[in-house]
Amino acid sequence: MQETKLDPWGSSRIEDYDKLYSAFGISHFNPLLKRIPSPMRYMRRNIIFGHRDYEGVLDAILGQKKFAVMSGFMPSGEVHLGHKMVMEEIIWHQERGGSAHFAVADMEAHSVRGVSWKDCKKIGDDYILSLIALGFKPSGRIYFQSKDSDVKDLAFELGSEVNFSEMSAIYGLTNEAHVSHMLSAVVQSADILAPQLEKFGGPKPVVIPVGADQDPHIRLTRDIASRARKLTVNSREDHIRIDVKTKDDIDAMKDIERKFKKNKTGLHELHLDIYGAKYEEVAEVADKAEIKIGGYAFTPPSSLYHRFMSGLTGGKMSSSVPESYIALTEPPNDAAAKVRKAKTGGRATAAEQRNLGGVPEECVVYELMLFHLIEDDDKIEDIYKECKGGKRTCDSCKGYAANLVFQFLKKHQDDRENAKRRLKEYGIKYE
Ligand code: TRP
Ligand code: SF4
Repeated sequence: MQETKLDPWGSSRIEDYDKLYSAFGISHFNPLLKRIPSPMRYMRRNIIFGHRDYEGVLDAILGQKKFAVMSGFMPSGEVHLGHKMVMEEIIWHQERGGSAHFAVADMEAHSVRGVSWKDCKKIGDDYILSLIALGFKPSGRIYFQSKDSDVKDLAFELGSEVNFSEMSAIYGLTNEAHVSHMLSAVVQSADILAPQLEKFGGPKPVVIPVGADQDPHIRLTRDIASRARKLTVNSREDHIRIDVKTKDDIDAMKDIERKFKKNKTGLHELHLDIYGAKYEEVAEVADKAEIKIGGYAFTPPSSLYHRFMSGLTGGKMSSSVPESYIALTEPPNDAAAKVRKAKTGGRATAAEQRNLGGVPEECVVYELMLFHLIEDDDKIEDIYKECKGGKRTCDSCKGYAANLVFQFLKKHQDDRENAKRRLKEYGIKYE
């Protein structure tokens, strides 16, 4: 018999993500798992597969230091299970002490997808209800890009750090690309960096949970964050070195030098060397000094990447094929019916199924349970083993999953109704 690797968290499509590690420098998430206190379902199950710089956020969680979580969506199409993943990741970090920020990317939807402002508001409100229903707390910040002057002002500033050819290389823009399309890209960078504004508690690690398709935005924003720095701190062999870009900012260096009076220091035209000090200590002082001279002292944002569920009909989920996804707002009965029709990893006949077992790695129903419907790891492992061992029939398995989807949606939709009454706590007007 052919040897197959048994892994309830695996998927036949996971290889698609492998190249992201080598090609773009995304790190594997798995090695961090054991350091994470009560990791969430997507972490435990390898659904969050990669990250950039998540260590900084993890250190903040463990050391109870300040950090933030931020993400957002373009309001286009119905709110569905894919959105739920990001929402749950935001909420998980909020529960661990992070300040939480959620953007409705209406400027992006309007400029890139041509969604009218009226629809942006309507769809955005719908997303917000699900976010709150899933457990987002009122201490967090929810906003529409077009209504947020902090974000818009910051976007204008950040725009000085990127030029047209860079934008077009990253986003594949042609000469015909509209200016507002480009603008919406810097607005997204502003979304990501705004949690580090003084107003929101200053520089700190910020994690952006997103689908892997959003990585170009993250990379660009990390570059912008570094470029916007007035002071840069680097560890050298036997000292710490701080550089400034212009002589105008040398006063900040003098400030820092004074704080390290006890240490041996050397102030040069555009840099300062400090001996016998810890990196973290110098970095913190440098952040304060940078803010004093009007800088932002951004920490490059971190990110988490999750893989996507397949469409219920096989292939990709697509908003233009309603049978391929489950909307959080659709009638629970309709959703259950979609599950009963979904593509499974079952065999052609019942006898084959009994003898060979099913293929959960290629089963959308299994994926649905793994991603969304079953919280208990032992339970999902049992299902996996039963399927592999030919002890489940797809018909009853689909019925089981359909019922779970029904229950989940019913509760979620009740919670959305409750959320409607609580919008004021979040500072939101709902029409
Ligand atoms: N570009 C994202 C999308 O296509 C939406 C978005 C806007 C976003 N600002 C963000 C995502 C900030 C993460 C962080 O849906
Ligand atoms: Fe999928 Fe369940 Fe059939 Fe296994 S038994 S292939 S998990 S539907």
